[in-house]
Amino acid sequence: MKVFLLSFSFFVCILATPVSGRDKTPVTAVASPDQAIRVNVSLKNGVPFYTVSRNNQPVVNESRLGFTFKDLPALAGDFKIASSQTSSFDETWTQPWGEVKDIRNHYNSLAITLQEKSAQKRLLKIEFRVFNDGVGFRYEIPQQSNLKSFTIMDELTEFAMAQDLDAWWIPAYHSDIDSECLFQKNKISEFKETVHTPLTMEGDKLYVSIHEAALVNYASMTLQKQNQHTLKCDLVAWANGDRVVANAPMKTPWRTIQIAARPGDLITSYLILNLNEPNKLGDVSWIKPGKYNGIWWGMHMQKHTWEGGPRHGATTENMKQFIDFASKHKLSAVLAEGWNQGWEGEWPVHGNFSFTKPYPDYDLAEITRYAKEKNIGIIGHHETGGNIKNYEAQLEDAFKLFAQYDIHRLKTGYVNKRPAGERHQNQFMVNHYHKVMETAARYQVMLDVHEPVKDTGLRRTYPNMMTREGARGTEYEAWSTGNPPEHTTILPFTRCLGGPLDYTPGIFDIQFKTTGNFRVHTTLAKQLALYVVIYSPMQMAADLPENYEGKPAFKFIEDVPTDWETTRVLESKIGDYTTIVRKDRNSSEWFLGSITDESERTLNVALDFLAPGKTYTAEIYQDGQDADMTSNPLSIDIKSRSVDSNTVLPIRLAPGGGTAIRFFETR
Ligand code: NOJ
Ligand code: CA
Repeated sequence: MKVFLLSFSFFVCILATPVSGRDKTPVTAVASPDQAIRVNVSLKNGVPFYTVSRNNQPVVNESRLGFTFKDLPALAGDFKIASSQTSSFDETWTQPWGEVKDIRNHYNSLAITLQEKSAQKRLLKIEFRVFNDGVGFRYEIPQQSNLKSFTIMDELTEFAMAQDLDAWWIPAYHSDIDSECLFQKNKISEFKETVHTPLTMEGDKLYVSIHEAALVNYASMTLQKQNQHTLKCDLVAWANGDRVVANAPMKTPWRTIQIAARPGDLITSYLILNLNEPNKLGDVSWIKPGKYNGIWWGMHMQKHTWEGGPRHGATTENMKQFIDFASKHKLSAVLAEGWNQGWEGEWPVHGNFSFTKPYPDYDLAEITRYAKEKNIGIIGHHETGGNIKNYEAQLEDAFKLFAQYDIHRLKTGYVNKRPAGERHQNQFMVNHYHKVMETAARYQVMLDVHEPVKDTGLRRTYPNMMTREGARGTEYEAWSTGNPPEHTTILPFTRCLGGPLDYTPGIFDIQFKTTGNFRVHTTLAKQLALYVVIYSPMQMAADLPENYEGKPAFKFIEDVPTDWETTRVLESKIGDYTTIVRKDRNSSEWFLGSITDESERTLNVALDFLAPGKTYTAEIYQDGQDADMTSNPLSIDIKSRSVDSNTVLPIRLAPGGGTAIRFFETR
C-alpha cells in the first residue's frame, strides 16, 4: 500500500510539570480541535477520575480509572500527578480499501502520568485523545522496578453516562457463539446483563457509542451496569478467571466514546480507525476487495453437506460451476466450505480438522488451475471448531498449502461448543486471532473471520484483515427464527461501527423450502439494498447460482462496488430505517441502499450528493407496488429515470423492504 499524506502537521507543545513545585499546576483538561468536546481529569483522595462534556453539557460524569491485580496491591489510588503533556495532531491518510478513501486524523491529546505517593511509587500513564467526533483514552503501565509482571483481575474504567440513555445491546455471555444475537433496546438503568460493545445509545439529539480500538494482547471490554446509568468495563476472562496477563511496559486498547448529533454521524466517524497504528504491511497492492460466491448456502439449505458422501458440496465439479458463474457475473472469488477432511461427527465439539488434506473428490490442483484460467480467486476455508491447539499446530503447513496453489483469500470459523474452550473475546483468543492475521499477512492472504473477536479497527494496521462476522448474519435465516427486518436497521449503527461485516446478503429464493419452517425476512429489493447499507470489502452473493440465473435483479449485484471513495448516511432512525449512499472509488458512479423494518415507509430523498450540473441515469430496484415481506417478497420494480443533484426522489419501502439504486452519468 502507498500511504499518501495529503496534509500533515504535528505540533507538540509539551507541558511537562515537575513532581515538586507548588506553583506549577499540571494541565488536567483538553478540548477537541473545534472546542466542543472536553475531557477533565481529576484526583479525589488520590483516586483518578475523568469526565466528558459536549457543548458544555455533561456526556460522561465523573468516572473512575485504574486496575486491580492478582496477588498485588491495586493500581487505583494513592496517586499524585507526576507530570502531564498536551499535544495536537492533524493528518489525512488514505485507506488502501474501504468505505471511504481519505480520513482526517485530527485531535488534541493529554497524557497524564500518575505516581503512587506510597513506598512503591508505581506509575500509571493515561492518554486522552479528543477529536471533534469523540474521545479515545488508554492506559500505559510504563517500565518500572516495582511493577514488572502482573495479572489484571479488573479494569476499573467506568462510563458514568450523564443521562439514562436508550441503548441497543446484545448480551456478552449469552451463548457459545457470543455476538450472534438480536439487539434489544432498553434504558441503561434497565440492563440486567453484561453487554457487548459497540454499545450505541440515544438521547435528545445525542448519539453516543462506547467501544474500543486496537485490541492487541488484552481482553475484550464488555460493559456491566453499576448504579443507575453508570457502566463499567468488564474484561472477558480466561477459563481460569484471570483477565489479562501482562508485563510492563504495556498499553491497553483505546476506550472509545463516539459522540454525534445524528445517528449517521456515528457511521462516518473514523475515530476507531484513527486510534489504530498505520499500515504495518508495506506494499499491499496484492489486497483486492471484491465480491464472491461459494459452496456455502447449499449446506445451510440441506442441499449439500460439508462432510464427504453422496451430497458432498465441495467437489471439483461443483466448484467449476461456481467458478463459471463467478467469471460470467463480475465476481472475483469463490469460497468452498467442506473441502478439507474432518467434518464428520460433532465437529463443533471435537474440532479435529485437517487443514492440508482435501476430500478425495476435491482436486485442489485442478480447481486452482481452472480458476486461474478464468481469472477467479479461490477462498480457502478453515473451520476450527474452536480447537485452537489443533489449528495452531497446522497453521504454517496450512498456509504453505495456500502458497503452493496461489490462494490469497481465507475464511476462518470458530464454532465452539467445547465446554473447556476459551471464550472468543478473551486474551487467549485475541492473541490467537492476531497470530492468524499476522501469519496470513506473511503469506499474502486476505482474511474473512467468522465467530471472530470483535472488530477494533486493526484493518488499518493489517489491511489483509478484510471482514468478519461477529453478528447474527444471513445464516440464521436458514435454520432459525431468523433475523427480523429491524435487525439490519440496527446493525449499521452498532456492530458495524467496529468495522466491515460479512453479513452474506443476496438471497433471492426468499421462501426456500427446507425441512424447517424457515425463510428470509426481507423483500428481494432489500436483499440488494444490503450491499450498500452493510459495508464489507469481501461481499458475498450468497444464494445458489440456479437462483440467480435469468433474474434481472442480479445486475445490481454485478454492478455494486466493494471499495468506496465516500460514504454518506442520509436521514435514518436506528431500528426503523436507514438510507446510505456511497460513491465508487474507481468511477463517478454513486449507489444508494435504503431499508426499512417491518413498517412500510415513503421517503423523499434529496439527491444533492450527486455532482452538480451533471445528469445521471438512476437504475432503480424497488419493491413492487404489491410487495410485502410476508405475502409477496419477490415483487420488484426495476426501472430507469433521469436525475440530477436537484432531484428529490420519492422512495417507497414495502414492509420489510428496501430500494437499491445505481447512479451513472448520462452521456
Ligand atoms: C458458521 C459460519 O458463520 C458459517 O458461515 C459457516 O458456514 C459455518 N460456521 C461452518 O463453518
Ligand atoms: Ca456464524
